[in-house]
Amino acid sequence: MTTKDNVVLEARDIVKNYGGTRALKGVNFEIRSGTVTTLFGENGAGKSTLMKILSGVEQPTSGQILMGGEPVSFSSTTDAAEHGISIIHQELSLAPNLTVRDNIFMGREIMRRFGGVDYAEETRQTRALLKEMKLPIEPDTYVSDLRVGQQQIIEIARALSVNSRILIMDEPTSALAAAEVETLFGIVRDLLSRGVAIVYISHHLEEALEITDHAVVLRDGNMTARAERADIDLAWIVRNMVGENFDLGSPPEGYEFGESVLSVDGLTVLDPENPERAVVNGIDLDVRAGEIVCIYGLMGAGRTELLEAIAGRERVESGEILLEGKSILGDSIATRIEKGVGLVPEDRQRDGLVQTFSVGRNLTLASLDQSMSGWAISGKKEKQRARELITAVTVKTPGPELNIGGLSGGNQQKVVIGKIVATDPRLILLDEPSRGIDVGAKAEVFRLLADRARGGVGVVYTTSEVGECLSIAHRIIVMSRGQVSAEFGPDATKDMIMAASGEA
Ligand SMILES: Nc1ncnc2c1ncn2[C@@H]1O[C@H](COP(=O)(O)OP(=O)(O)OP(=O)(O)O)[C@@H](O)[C@H]1O
Ligand SMILES: [Mg+2]
Repeated sequence: MTTKDNVVLEARDIVKNYGGTRALKGVNFEIRSGTVTTLFGENGAGKSTLMKILSGVEQPTSGQILMGGEPVSFSSTTDAAEHGISIIHQELSLAPNLTVRDNIFMGREIMRRFGGVDYAEETRQTRALLKEMKLPIEPDTYVSDLRVGQQQIIEIARALSVNSRILIMDEPTSALAAAEVETLFGIVRDLLSRGVAIVYISHHLEEALEITDHAVVLRDGNMTARAERADIDLAWIVRNMVGENFDLGSPPEGYEFGESVLSVDGLTVLDPENPERAVVNGIDLDVRAGEIVCIYGLMGAGRTELLEAIAGRERVESGEILLEGKSILGDSIATRIEKGVGLVPEDRQRDGLVQTFSVGRNLTLASLDQSMSGWAISGKKEKQRARELITAVTVKTPGPELNIGGLSGGNQQKVVIGKIVATDPRLILLDEPSRGIDVGAKAEVFRLLADRARGGVGVVYTTSEVGECLSIAHRIIVMSRGQVSAEFGPDATKDMIMAASGEA
């Protein structure tokens, strides 16, 4: 099915300028029914911008969109929806203070014949969608009570509920675990068999390869490569995305680990919604200065809760947490940060960034004491530090003054990582640090962590990509149902790790 016949949408010569930034430089792009077209590209390459234009969120500076050979233009998302196009956004766009049901039907409520919203019907349809997505929650749950991964599933359910002809998925799996990705892919295959056209964007390259029919690579606002599934592999994608070979690095060596930085003993955290269940169930974990530990596990394994408990963001039921030999259990979040615990949280949009601040301010915010000159903050020093951090975590921005909202999704994530690293922590905890960042940037972030470890910092990071465990970690811990199910050295294999997590 690669003939012109199944082209449902064609974009010609699309240009998009944001002020002085030329995000798209004349891109041609086709979408075909019953197939998945995957868009690969570095952070800031223009992927989301192109998708926003095709779904009516943004208007192109110039260029044309054709459907069925006829020119169309979308003045809004509603307009695009009427043409059968819907989008799952990279940044979650749900209203936290509304229920799951109200989020799904927001702006297109089902009305009763004689007026008023038909909540019963909306609830029924929501329940059916949640069942299809295998998410065991009630339609009247508030979105603010859900974890990021669950919110992402709601975001997907909302797009699915529209029955569109073209479904754009911009990093739909960035917060999902392997099992949920499988559920999603099952739904995707079903949509394909009904002739729906899908555009898919992901930095999880192996995952994307699994469902892609055509691959397209964007680089700096230009379309640089295009190929059918049969002709591509991982190396092809990486080569076309970053133009070089790279590797994620190896565990830093040639030094001795120091004293214990973190010592967790019998830590138990209960599920706030169901106190019968322990999400972290008697975990022991020791990390020494200079050591890098990777925690692998599926969503729901308790990794996030473990890291958040160490940072003081989860209530601990029992157990002990020592930082450099001293208990921090009674300390507030702020005190723990002061003592040297740095957490890069899972939900970076909500917890990590101040949306109204500039890139530079967001980067230096957590370490303003280092920008002091006497008793005042030195604007010059702050700007200088911001520039250094921008380089250290490779943020693609015209400068520190840009508003954080003007960065691509992956670049916003790099800012959160840079901000924590800037506080010079003794212990860096990173919850899925590589989600949403491109292969080149992943390598940069891992190099940065390896450097810090060499300087005596203890590093703990979680990931759902096995390959990332096998890169810089000295030790790999597999978590399953709140407990440690296995521990490996850097010589472990992918199969061993996955088997221990209950995947294989
Ligand atoms: N609202 C905006 N204002 C200014 N510049 C913007 C805006 N939105 C995007 N840009 C710029 O346009 C370029 C393309 O961004 P885009 O979000 O399309 O990248 P992307 O390929 O989706 O990256 P990622 O993989 O990080 O999601 C970037 O340089 C970005 O900084
Ligand atoms: Mg994007």
